[in-house]
Amino acid sequence: MSKQKPAAIALGTALAGLALGGGAFAMEPLAQGYMLAAGEAAKAQEGKCGEGKCGIEKVDTDKDGRISQAEFAAAHPDKADQFAKIDANADGFIDEAERKAHHAAKGSEGKCGEQTGKASEGKCGEGKCGEGKCGGTVGIFPVGVSHRLPMTLPDASAGLGLRRAMLDELRAAPAGAFDFLECAPDNWIGVGGRLGEALDDLSARHPLTCHGLSLSLGGPAPLDEVFLAKTRRFLDRHRVSLYSEHLSACSDATGHLYDLMPVPFTEAAVRHVATRIGRVQDLLGRRIAVENVSYYAALPVAPAQALEEADFVNAVLAEADCDLLLDVNNVYVNAVNHGYDARVFLARMPCARIASYHIAGHYDEADDLKVDTHGAPVKDAVWSLLAEAYRLHGVRPTLLERDFNLPPLPVLLDEVERIRQLQREAAGVAPAGVAHA
Ligand SMILES: [Fe+2]
Repeated sequence: MSKQKPAAIALGTALAGLALGGGAFAMEPLAQGYMLAAGEAAKAQEGKCGEGKCGIEKVDTDKDGRISQAEFAAAHPDKADQFAKIDANADGFIDEAERKAHHAAKGSEGKCGEQTGKASEGKCGEGKCGEGKCGGTVGIFPVGVSHRLPMTLPDASAGLGLRRAMLDELRAAPAGAFDFLECAPDNWIGVGGRLGEALDDLSARHPLTCHGLSLSLGGPAPLDEVFLAKTRRFLDRHRVSLYSEHLSACSDATGHLYDLMPVPFTEAAVRHVATRIGRVQDLLGRRIAVENVSYYAALPVAPAQALEEADFVNAVLAEADCDLLLDVNNVYVNAVNHGYDARVFLARMPCARIASYHIAGHYDEADDLKVDTHGAPVKDAVWSLLAEAYRLHGVRPTLLERDFNLPPLPVLLDEVERIRQLQREAAGVAPAGVAHA
């Protein structure tokens, strides 16, 4: 399944060169909506409450989302003896709930949640955030947002990728225009102010799924467990029922590459990736789905160790005991670029592990070279493949990904409606279920 074409090799090399040569911290939006969090994170460190540097974050110097005794003592040397009183569960850390409970008990809570507008305008006073006096978003958790059960999705649901450029249109969209939204927590963690309020508003009104960008499940560097702790709180806060990441590597020893690189299709890589997925599931406290990615150059592997891509995906899912986010456009793009039958690949995916589907548009570079851009309408061949996936495996929540060349929302909603149409057509037809985990 890895019959490489010269054009594909050249593109893969160019992509790798771009990722490496562009600097590990380039702040350009990347393909597939990879608006990098680093740019926003930099803003969030500028000290405005509305931008997310309040409450716990102000004191949380190691950025693990909670306040240790040492951090508390450093920030409040004259009140160090109060730590144990605030740390209600005596786990040695003050989390956001404990901080809020403490301020509520002091009667200061009323000064927070009622001043959203001021906080949004960046007027929160210096040094007052940590005392519970800024409104709207305070630290990681906005005041007034409670922890509730995840919003579950029916299989027959059609969603749309949440992009910042679409926020106003999405908030004004008529009820029922889409069934759920998907965002990348990497681009939203720590974001407050107007943007954070918009996300809170949308996630309060619509189920939100999350699609991670930067865990680098297949990469060599240790997992970023501090980031995973923040991700867990983000998922809890927005009641996210489905979190997915890419079956790829996006970092090396130098740091983030800001693109998705393939992992070698070998048993050793299966064990490596599956171990990391297991750790991620433990840290997030939930089952996750991994997504089959598009790739343009298969990594060189000794023939005796090489697995076919479908076998590799199945082995990872089984070893990690996780779910699959089946990106139908990626299957199509890879099938063309690497010369295999997309329908055969689909049939080999494990029915019982498919949690959801992605669908997107791609760029036709040549008859035998497609580029997964998410910058164009979904092609007919990919719509057909989605219908085939429904026939083989059944309907699951399906998301339209669109990251570039964004048309007006009604145009995207027409594609969302086409997903629904395919789901209706597949309803009542028992899936073939050719592969089982
Ligand atoms: Fe995708």
